[in-house]
Amino acid sequence: MAPPTEDCGWLLYLSLAAKCGDPHRLLGFAAVFVVACVVTSLLHWASPGGPAWGWYWWTRRAGLGIVRTAAIPGPRGLPVVGSMALMTGLAHRKLAAAAETQASRRRLMAFSLGETRVVVTADPDVARELLASAAFADRPVKESAYGLLFHRAIGFAPHGAYWRALRRVASAHLFSPRQIAASAAQRAVIARQMVDAMTVTTTTTAAPVVVARRFLKRASLHNVMWSVFGCRYDLLTADSEEAAELKALVDEGYDLLGQLNWSDHLPWLARFDLQKTRARCSALVPRVNRFVGDIIDEHRARHGLALGGDDTTAVMDFTDVLLSLQGDDKLSDADMIAVLWEMIFRGTDTVAVLIEWVLARLVLHQDVQSKVHDELDRVVGPGQAVTESDTASLMYLQAVIKEVLRLHPPGPLLSWARLATSDVHVGGHLVPAGTTAMVNMWAITHDPSVWPEPTEFRPERFIVMGPAAAAEDVVPIMGSDLRLAPFGSGRRSCPGKSLAVATVGFWVATLLHEFKWLPPSRGGGGVDLSEVLRLSCEMAAPLEARVVPRRDAV
Ligand code: HEM
Repeated sequence: MAPPTEDCGWLLYLSLAAKCGDPHRLLGFAAVFVVACVVTSLLHWASPGGPAWGWYWWTRRAGLGIVRTAAIPGPRGLPVVGSMALMTGLAHRKLAAAAETQASRRRLMAFSLGETRVVVTADPDVARELLASAAFADRPVKESAYGLLFHRAIGFAPHGAYWRALRRVASAHLFSPRQIAASAAQRAVIARQMVDAMTVTTTTTAAPVVVARRFLKRASLHNVMWSVFGCRYDLLTADSEEAAELKALVDEGYDLLGQLNWSDHLPWLARFDLQKTRARCSALVPRVNRFVGDIIDEHRARHGLALGGDDTTAVMDFTDVLLSLQGDDKLSDADMIAVLWEMIFRGTDTVAVLIEWVLARLVLHQDVQSKVHDELDRVVGPGQAVTESDTASLMYLQAVIKEVLRLHPPGPLLSWARLATSDVHVGGHLVPAGTTAMVNMWAITHDPSVWPEPTEFRPERFIVMGPAAAAEDVVPIMGSDLRLAPFGSGRRSCPGKSLAVATVGFWVATLLHEFKWLPPSRGGGGVDLSEVLRLSCEMAAPLEARVVPRRDAV
């Protein structure tokens, strides 16, 4: 794109030509204008990384007289639109393939999404540099995130006092070890309901086949509704109107945030709203406001009663916590809605998506499943139900979950990108302010120089025998080791990671202790590991499995 001064110059020439009234001269100016645009586009496009990078280098060199430093290698894509195709479909795989073509691209690769400059790394050291840097503490806010008011919630709020206050409140009241331990009973109730609902399904239908996702998504949604709004449902009964509405809201929001919106990168397209992003956000927001606003009002009314002395024993959920904030931390209703809505939104699908991948791998690798069953029988006991405190002793199951996070990270590009707020050096290159930065965690976890035989499903790689095993957690997953950091790293890493790990570990242990998970057809096979990348990377075909009660059988 030409800088504003150039635009004004061309417009001035054209208007002068129009005023002088000579059609030939006007046509001549128009032709010169078109040729100049084409030449400028081609010059910009010719730079490594494509048009957005070309524009940056040309304007910097011409406008500011700054000598060009070594350009970051990367594909040029097409003139004007750049490499938009890389971000469609399975973007993590396409970006990994593009980085493979040149060794230096794996460390840092530049590409253009229309007018947006992007860098991506597939190298653990550069990833650490990038995620730990204070210059990358912001996120680029997409039109859909603005439209859905997420810039007022933790995930997209700019790095600063407001964001810090939100993280502090969430860490203290939702994600602290004490809170996670306190909500174990809730997860146990939902796990039991899930087992009962699966048992009912398999005993009332001719074939004992379950579509795992249906149960997992409802269970996750109910879990997060309970923590955040204090609402309780029963998985054995059909969804209430309220739960069905919330599910529809979450699905629509997921779809909007997960899609590649062309006008985020080609702002001149924004006025046309070709993908209907703005229209859909505008339709969704009043529904979310009504839904969450009603719940806040109910909590306020309850607070009033509690203050009047009628209900002092009420258990605090996250809505109560936000309502009780005072002074500088106090939130407006609009901000509160954004924060609560984001928690529901973030907490629901990620957990369900990960558990579905774990179950799929265990259906496919029956030998691994047998080892998990042996461990459960040894640690928990065949006649006992799993408790959440058992999961700390289930070392093999933990290794299975880590191996699934390695092979199928739910956020293969760490879900939400970062934005450079100042010029910064990363991986030996200058990354200018305003550049979007991504880490391709999927490429790192599939890199044979980082993980031997990376496509093999081998949980044993996380089990170290001997003294080293006791000394350290082999490859921690919470963000300190960038070889496997599915929850991100640095100041904007996932605040819900401990809660997610506790939930996934306990629910998988329960589902495995209660059932044998077998392929849907007796001939074996039938597990399709194809992926689809929305906001998370999910199984494209929902997992179907025959579940056979185990504890009666032993
Ligand atoms: C398997 C489950 C989960 C995975 C794989 C996951 C992954 C991630 C990733 C990769 C990020 C971006 C990190 C970065 O930029 O470095 C993130 C951010 C975030 N996650 Fe999670 N997440 C999970 C569960 C949860 C849960 C259960 C919650 C809350 C209930 C949650 C809330 C958030 C929030 C609020 C952010 C934005 C943080 C910020 O920008 O400051 N996540 N998550």
